[in-house]
Amino acid sequence: MSGKLYIQTFGCQMNEYDADKMGDVLGASHGLTRVKSPSEADVLLMNTCSVREKAQEKVFSLLGRWKKLKRSRPDLIIGVGGCVASQEGEDIYRRAPCVDIVFGPQTLHRLPQMLDQVKTQGRPVLDISFPEIEKFDALPSPHAEVPAAFVSIMEGCSKYCSFCIVPFTRGEEISRSLDGVITEIQRLTRLGVREITLLGQNVNGYRGLMADGETADLALLLHYVAAIEEIGRIRFTTSHPAEVNDALIDAFAEIPKLASHFHLPVQSGSNNILAAMKRNYTVEEYIGTVRRLRAARPDLSLSSDFIIGFPGETDEDFEQTMKLINETGFDTSFSFVYSRRPGTPASALQDDVPEQTKKKRLKILQTRLEQSAGKISRAMVGTTQKVLVERPSRKDISEMAGRTSNNRMVNFKGRADLIGRFVDVTIKEALPNSLRGVLSEAPPTREDRSRLAS
Ligand code: SAM
Ligand code: F3S
Repeated sequence: MSGKLYIQTFGCQMNEYDADKMGDVLGASHGLTRVKSPSEADVLLMNTCSVREKAQEKVFSLLGRWKKLKRSRPDLIIGVGGCVASQEGEDIYRRAPCVDIVFGPQTLHRLPQMLDQVKTQGRPVLDISFPEIEKFDALPSPHAEVPAAFVSIMEGCSKYCSFCIVPFTRGEEISRSLDGVITEIQRLTRLGVREITLLGQNVNGYRGLMADGETADLALLLHYVAAIEEIGRIRFTTSHPAEVNDALIDAFAEIPKLASHFHLPVQSGSNNILAAMKRNYTVEEYIGTVRRLRAARPDLSLSSDFIIGFPGETDEDFEQTMKLINETGFDTSFSFVYSRRPGTPASALQDDVPEQTKKKRLKILQTRLEQSAGKISRAMVGTTQKVLVERPSRKDISEMAGRTSNNRMVNFKGRADLIGRFVDVTIKEALPNSLRGVLSEAPPTREDRSRLAS
């Protein structure tokens, strides 16, 4: 079969990675090619997120629109995957009978069989099981369109923070083998990839089996990745503050290829709230970890996630979060209003912070975080940064775009043959969401080099 596939993704980087894998799997098995509009497609897939209520609501409103498409084209196949699928299971068909396939985050590699089943049996198929780590072994070779790629190193989460649905929708933490991860990265380097982001809900909980039967932690994995010559820069996300061990802190001193950026979600600056969230660390411990990280890597940029309005959050608790922000100097971070998720331990608590208060606190916090990130951007003006050139700039194709070590997008005049190379860019201007710079010295092109050699 050849045909067209449209994938709509909601949520985190893990979901974006999974969506790419869905495209790879169905491309290899059924020759499906991805298109940018649902009206062109023969198969429509939705990769859903249930971390907050808003993301979950989007699923059924989009299915309402897809139902209309199916009415005019009854052959259209509709699949719902990801965390909402995992959580709701058969209820998805009940609420939206236009759906043919319901699959979970860990069964996306079985999509080809599910698609065949729908076609031959003409009735809906459901598979939301957690079949260990089988998914990664069953996936086709990765593809890469830009020189910076994601590689998932683990699935699920076993931390059970009281507010979070992820352990229930993605299952317990399970790590890929060290060899499996390294082989995927080596394949990506052959496609021109030079920067890797290791992905997982808690990458620093990584415990990957090695060939000798021992397990590798994240720090050891980072050393192995750094030993791959073609890889020039390594990132990882997300980490849990309670699992930052000495070896990971040392890695920032020992591995120059490790980017100077660490996303370490704190959620709150109040010990009472952290305990109610079951985060397993205190603010003092978090600050201690940050101090040690900065001693290992003085220019480290630190970003975080915050939840505002968790049940019982008082003005005093919020003040403590603001104090932490003021004292830590966070870089670009994420902040959310608490969203009660049915089935989580916190859902039994009364969602007692008034909506108005939540909104007011969120505004204060976001304004402060923006100021803090803006200050870091402005301090970069005049400095020279190592940038991996990723692609032409979206607004002007005579310009290139790439990321700095601290994860900021920089646009600068440059040639397309620089894509995939690390260049020095002097920062000239700090804008709210990006930087502008000037190429310090363009490395020689292939033609320059052969001219010099002759
Ligand atoms: N594993 C990561 C960590 O260590 O915190 C985070 C994964 S979670 C999918 C991403 C972020 O969503 C969390 O850090 C948290 O700030 C936010 N989040 C999760 N559950 C939430 C809820 N019920 N309401 C609001 N925000 C939530
Ligand atoms: Fe969620 Fe906490 Fe895990 S935020 S993904 S349960 S570390």
